[in-house]
Amino acid sequence: MFKITRDAIIIWFRNRFPVDTLARHLKTKQVPQHRHSIWYYFGGLTLFFFIVQFVTGILLMFYYRPTPDHAYESILFIMHEVRFGWVIRSIHSWAANLMIATLFIHLISVFYMQAYRPPRELMWISGVILLGLVLGFGFTGYLLPWDEMAFYATQIGTEIPRSIPVIGESIMILLRGGREIGSATLTRMYALHVVVLPLITLFLVGLHLFLNQYYGVSRPVKVKKKKEPIKFFPNFMLRDIRAWLGAMLVLLSIAMLSPWGLGEEADLLKPAPEGIKPEWYFLPLYQTLKIVPSRIWYFDGEALVNIIFLLGGLLLVALPFIDRKSRNDENNMFIKIIGTIVLIYLIILTIIAYID
Ligand code: HEM
Repeated sequence: MFKITRDAIIIWFRNRFPVDTLARHLKTKQVPQHRHSIWYYFGGLTLFFFIVQFVTGILLMFYYRPTPDHAYESILFIMHEVRFGWVIRSIHSWAANLMIATLFIHLISVFYMQAYRPPRELMWISGVILLGLVLGFGFTGYLLPWDEMAFYATQIGTEIPRSIPVIGESIMILLRGGREIGSATLTRMYALHVVVLPLITLFLVGLHLFLNQYYGVSRPVKVKKKKEPIKFFPNFMLRDIRAWLGAMLVLLSIAMLSPWGLGEEADLLKPAPEGIKPEWYFLPLYQTLKIVPSRIWYFDGEALVNIIFLLGGLLLVALPFIDRKSRNDENNMFIKIIGTIVLIYLIILTIIAYID
């Protein structure tokens, strides 16, 4: 008679799932060691926060109600009635910000290490799309609590594309589900936030990680091989886990010591309060729109800024093909200087917008 033993179960899985091939691959993968190795942790940290977002987001969905009549009330319920609801909400909001911060650091570090050079172009392109998706998560999630700040910031945010010639008005109506912000906007933002964006993001994160396993970790152009690389499994993986534990400690401390707040409920009849600002990661665009004159030569200033930011995004996607030097494994100082100027501009504008 067939007996179900521990060994029989293991053999059954081994014959149906390529455990051995995966284990062999993990054992052969190596991570280069050099003075910039610390930056290798930021992709993994972004992944950690992404997982946190996924889990806490599902927990919040159990209680959140996406209608203007119930949204605010359901957030109050989560914060005051649901056991540990306030912590889960606080973790979700703080981890969103920390994820965007680690994502920016990850992008900047792979930019300076020129890790986008062949054969990793698709890793870079999937990464830039992921950046857009993650910012999309931030934008769509902001309206969900339906408090004053969320309502008016979304009003300003959805107004921004309006100035783009020909398609601007349609983009605004598409985002709002009408001319004004209302119940249709909330339904759309919710559907985007919990279904559309997660599905595309999951697929792209999967692709990004698969390519990372396939090609391994790159060595920056200028760095010569001085130290021996370390094994990914178990050595680098254990270091990654240490970084994840550190990130968890920081996240839990901030989320508990500084719980995420909630403003007054949005009242469509009241005038917009003073000092409405978008989240910090949209501040460079917001501040540029603020300082630019309404007309520049023959052009509408706002439309011009939108188009320049869009072109900037496209140039970022195309970077592996623009940077011809990196294709020959050469250091490209020119691209790095341009990148540094753009970065300094974005940081300065964020600071100005913050203290303004
Ligand atoms: C949800 C967002 C993202 C996640 C979860 C993620 C995750 C990761 C992980 C775990 C690695 C391997 C470890 C490392 O080298 O840091 C990696 C590598 C890489 N990522 Fe990302 N990443 C994301 C977004 C981005 C963005 C925005 C870019 C750039 C535009 C990017 C470009 C790359 C490149 C080029 C590599 C290869 C680095 C190398 O081999 O040295 N990623 N990513």
